This record gives sequence, structure tokens and C-alpha cells, in this order.
Amino acid sequence: MPSAWAMASEKLQVVVTCTAPVNIAVIKYWGKRDEALILPINSSLSVTLHQDQLRTTTTAAISKDFTEDRIWLNGREEAVGQPRLQACLREIRRLARKRRSMEGEGALPLSLSYKVHVASVNNFPTAAGLASSAAGYACLAYTLAQVYGVEGDLSEVARQGSGSACRSLYGGFVEWQMGEQADGKDSIAQQVAPEWHWPELRILVLVVSAEKKQTGSTVGMQTSVETSALLKFRAESVVPARMKEMMRCIKERDFPGFAQLTMKDSNQFHATCLDTFPPISYLNDTSRRIIQLVHCFNTHHGQTKVAYTFDAGPNAVIFTLDDTVAEFVAAVRHSFPPSANGDKFLKGLQVTPAPLSDELKAALTTEPSPGSVQYIIATQVGPGPQVLDDPHVHLLGPDGLPQWAA
Ligand code: DP6
Repeated sequence: MPSAWAMASEKLQVVVTCTAPVNIAVIKYWGKRDEALILPINSSLSVTLHQDQLRTTTTAAISKDFTEDRIWLNGREEAVGQPRLQACLREIRRLARKRRSMEGEGALPLSLSYKVHVASVNNFPTAAGLASSAAGYACLAYTLAQVYGVEGDLSEVARQGSGSACRSLYGGFVEWQMGEQADGKDSIAQQVAPEWHWPELRILVLVVSAEKKQTGSTVGMQTSVETSALLKFRAESVVPARMKEMMRCIKERDFPGFAQLTMKDSNQFHATCLDTFPPISYLNDTSRRIIQLVHCFNTHHGQTKVAYTFDAGPNAVIFTLDDTVAEFVAAVRHSFPPSANGDKFLKGLQVTPAPLSDELKAALTTEPSPGSVQYIIATQVGPGPQVLDDPHVHLLGPDGLPQWAA
């Protein structure tokens, strides 16, 4: 007797499940020169975080039985008509058609007229400033490419979902070249160094608030482009040299150089937000306390051992090396004592607890602020999107409907 899955799945022409990573920019993208194609005013550079800790999982299925395109995000059905989703679907189908016409009729064993069902889940809070849209759209682009048999660079597809998503298509260290062409064909992401290039590098996500952010990046950067002279100066006169310098730091594994530039670029991005009119502020008191903590820590050691960076939200992302993780986590625990669930304060990679020296304790000048950091996710640099071969992981059941929620 064939299983229910095997029988019912005959109705599904193709079903694929993939995962994609979160990325965190060390040279920030902020501002578009083309809103529709999502073309940036400056290049940017990011680090891909490991999917063992942070990932989006997406299943896409096509079937002649589906009557419309449908999408479920974290267990809830969402409007498939939203422009960015439509742009991704249109783009991938266009690439599939292009491939079919180049390789001759019949190169793809499926009909492009079939409707698609998509289900996607994140294993981390959505819209908490943890780049969920980047992982989400990268995963969508990658999964649809598998379904439609599209090969090659998918920057164009992912980018039209969310600009930063094109950087989540690759592992390791990734550059998004702004490009010059009006059609955006040269605005693509590419790997600068693979995930194994800098094995000592560690990343700590300090979750300050899991609330939905106030001003979304899309609207925020639109207002910045319209009103901030500092942003224009940054894009034209600061970022080009920073991109080169950041690539050197990564290539040479120069941690102090990498760390200082990461902090400066985060600070400049938030300065452009404040220079926007009306001003935007993504950082809160806890974010500023974390900034102070990092600087106290580095000053105490007489060298730059830790860096912070913040996106469009109050959560901090910390870069450090493996030999410093335990001591820095102890410093965070000291400055932000867990209010409850002290045992669940640290998630992700194992960190052997380290004592805090009296000298370092004395150097941490900020008053302890209990409960302000909810938890820490310890992770490292990771690979790009992956195809999951196990049919049991599909988020869509044999009937093409979600079979489990996040
Ligand atoms: C602050 O990629 O979310 O995280 O292209 O409008 O979807 P849209 O914006 P998005 O912006 C991310 C901005 C940032 C910096 C960065 O990741 O480079």
C-alpha cells in the first residue's frame, strides 16, 4: 500500500523545502535610488549568521490542482497580492520562461501556468530588527528557483522582496554591489569570503525587545533619502572607501580594524536616522547602555576586543572572537542581570561560564539594569541557503496546505 503522502503527493507536481540565513550588515545599506527595483544608493557588506541558530524555512509547491497562488507566514495566511511578493513571483517565472526558451520547449518538466503555494516559518521573532525579511525573501527566491529549475544568481529576485535579502543568498562574508545600470542588472550580491574563512569569529545577538519595530526600514530610508544631507554625503563620500577597508580587514582577519569600522558604520547609519526629518531613532536606552558597555570593556583591555552593530531596531549584534565570548557574556550578565529564567538567558552555541574579575567589574561604569536584555543568541558565521532533502520537513502537506505552524 502506498502511503497517504505518496498517493496524495502525486497531485503535487513539485514540492521543495529550503532554509536561508539571516545576515547582519557591517557596512549598512540605507537608501534607494530606485524604489520599484530596490536599487541602493551605496554598496553594503554583511556577515551571514549560522542557520543552526537563526533561519527561515520555506516550502513551495506547484500543482495543476491549485486555483490561486497562496502564502502562509509563520502559520498565518497572508495576502499574496502584496507588491514585493508579486515582484518575486513575476521575476522567478520570467527567469524560468527565459531558461525554457533558451533551452527549447520541454526543458522544464512543469507548466509555468501552475499556481504556487508557499509556507514559511522563522525560528526567531519576526520584525524584531533581526533581518527576518532578508532571510524570508532569500529563502523564497531560493526555494522558488528550485521549484522552477532556475539556476545562477538570484540577487534580482531576492532584492525585489527586500534589498538586504540578496546578501542572504550566500554564506560567509557578502558584498552587495550597488551597481550603476538603471535596470539593476549589475546590482548583485557576491561572496567576499566563505564561511570557514574566519573560524574564530563569534556573533552574539542581544535581544533587547521582541516587539515589532516602529518605523519600518522601507519608509524610514525613504524619508532619509528625501531629507538627510548626511545620508547623501555618507553614500557618496564615505561608503566607497569603507567598503575597500572592510574587505581588507576581512581578508587579513584584522579583528580590531573590522570591529572599529563596524561600530563606526553602525553609528553613522543611526546618525543619518537622527539627521532625517522628522528624526528616526531605532536605539533605546538599553541599546545605548550596550554601546557604553562595549567601549568600557575594550578600554579596560586596552584593545578592541568586541564590536556592536544595530539595524532598524534596538537589538544589538556583537562581534567578538572565541577567546573573548565567555568574559563578554559575563559582563553582559553583570550589567543586565536576567530578571527570570537565568538558565535560558544564553541560547545557541555553548559558552563555558567565566568569572568576571573585580578589575573589569569596577571598569563597567553603567548601573546594572535588570531584565533589559531578554536573552542572548550565541552563533557564528554560516553557510548560504540549503535544500532539505527529507520529505518529512515539508511545511505543506500532501493537499498543498500548511501541515504545521511555527
Ligand atoms: C538597517 O532590506 O529591510 O538592516 O529594501 O526596503 O526591504 P528594504 O529594506 P531592508 O533594509 C535593511 C536596512 C538595515 C541595514 C542593512 O541590512 O544593510
